Amino acid sequence: MGKEKLAYYGGNKTIGRSFPWPVYGEKEIQALKKVVESGVWGITSDPESSVSRFEKAFADYLGVKHAVAVVNGSVALRLSLMAAGVKPGDEIIVPPMSFIATASVVIEVNCVPVFVDIDPDTYNIDPDKIEEAITPRTKAIIPVHFAGNACAMDKIMEIAARHNLYVIEDACHAHGAEYRNRKLGSIGHTGCFSFQSSKNMCSGEGGIAVTDDDTLHEKISSLHNVGRKPGGAWYEHFNLGCNYRMTQFQAALLLIQLERLEEEVVKRDSNGLYLSELLNEIDGITPLLRAPEATKHSYHLFPFKYDRSKFNNISKKEFAELLAAEGVPCFMGYPEPIYRQPVFQKKNFFSYVIPDSVSYTDVSCPVCEEACHEKGMWITQNVFLGERKDMEMIAEAIRKIKANLQ
Ligand SMILES: Cc1ncc(COP(=O)(O)O)c(C=O)c1O
Repeated sequence: MGKEKLAYYGGNKTIGRSFPWPVYGEKEIQALKKVVESGVWGITSDPESSVSRFEKAFADYLGVKHAVAVVNGSVALRLSLMAAGVKPGDEIIVPPMSFIATASVVIEVNCVPVFVDIDPDTYNIDPDKIEEAITPRTKAIIPVHFAGNACAMDKIMEIAARHNLYVIEDACHAHGAEYRNRKLGSIGHTGCFSFQSSKNMCSGEGGIAVTDDDTLHEKISSLHNVGRKPGGAWYEHFNLGCNYRMTQFQAALLLIQLERLEEEVVKRDSNGLYLSELLNEIDGITPLLRAPEATKHSYHLFPFKYDRSKFNNISKKEFAELLAAEGVPCFMGYPEPIYRQPVFQKKNFFSYVIPDSVSYTDVSCPVCEEACHEKGMWITQNVFLGERKDMEMIAEAIRKIKANLQ
C-alpha cells in the first residue's frame, strides 16, 4: 500500500478506456454533406429545412407545441425573459449553483438576479426558501435542473401561480430528463436547452426555447429573427430583436442526435443509478439524491459530495486530480456560487442598468458555498454511455485512492 500505486504518482490506471464525446458516425457526415450541397445553410421558410424539422421534432419529443432554435442556451433564457415582458429593475429568482449564464442573462435584460440557496441533498434550488425571496418586484423564477435532476416542479409551479410569476426552466443539463414522466423543459412557461459541446445533445453551439404558450412563442420567434413576423417582409422589423438563428448545419446534427437521445437517456439513467448504489457503499462519498418524482435523470453530470476527513484530509481539488489520473473524467465543479464571481462582486455590468442599491457583496447562500468550496464534485455524462463494468471500475478507482493515500 502506498501513493506510488496511484496513477497520479506513476502507478497503473484503473480505467484504460476513454469515454468519447461527442459521439458521431457516418450519418452525421452524410447529413452535413447534404446541407453543404443544398446551398441553403441559413434561415429559410421551407418547413422541410433541417432547422424547421428539428424544431418540430424537439417540440414533439418534449410534448410541447412550439420550439425556437437559437444560437445558444443563454439566448434561449434571455429571449424567454424578454418575451415574459420583464421591465428594468424587476427581480428574477435564480439558484447560485449553476453556470453563470443563468444569472448573467438576467442582467442582460436590466433585471436583478435574486439568489436563493440550494437544497443540500440535490443542489437544486431549495423550494422552501423561494417564497421568502419574493417581493412585489419579482417577475420570474429560473429553476435549474442541476446535473439533469428534476427540481421540485410541483412546488415551484404552485408558488409561481400564487404570486403570478413566470417559470423559465433552465433545462440546459436536462435533455430527456423527466419529472413525473413529463419531460423537463415542458413544465414551466418556457424551457431552455443548450447544445454547447459538453451537453448531452450538442452541435458545437446552439440552443432552443420551448413553450406551449402561443403568445410567448410568437414573441421569442420574432425576437430571434431580428424582430420580424411570420409572413412579414425581410426588411420589416416589428420588435427589437437580433439575429439569434441556428444554422442548418447545427440542426442537421441535432436531428440525428435526437434519434439517439432516448436510448442514451435510458442508458445514462441506469448507469447513474447503479453508480449511486456503488458509491453509497464508500464512506466519504455521497451521491446527490434524486427527487422521487424524477422519473428520469439525464446525468449530464453525476454530482457527489466528498468528505475530505475520510480521505486523509486531501482537498477536493487533489482528489479530483487523483481520480482523473485513474481514468475517471472527474471535476471539482463550480469553484464559486455565481454571486461570488468578480462580475457580480464588482458589478462589472457595462451598459446594463442595475439599481445602485443592488449589491452582491453581502449575499450568502451557505449550502452553495459549502458545495462549491468543500464538497461538490462531478463526473461527466460521457462516462454514463459506458457499461456497468465501467461503473464498477469507478468505484474501484475511488477505493484504490482511499486505500493508498498514506
Ligand atoms: C445550467 C446552464 N445554463 C445555461 C447555460 C448556457 O448555455 P450556452 O452555453 O449554450 O449559452 C449552460 C451551459 O453552458 C448551463 O450549463
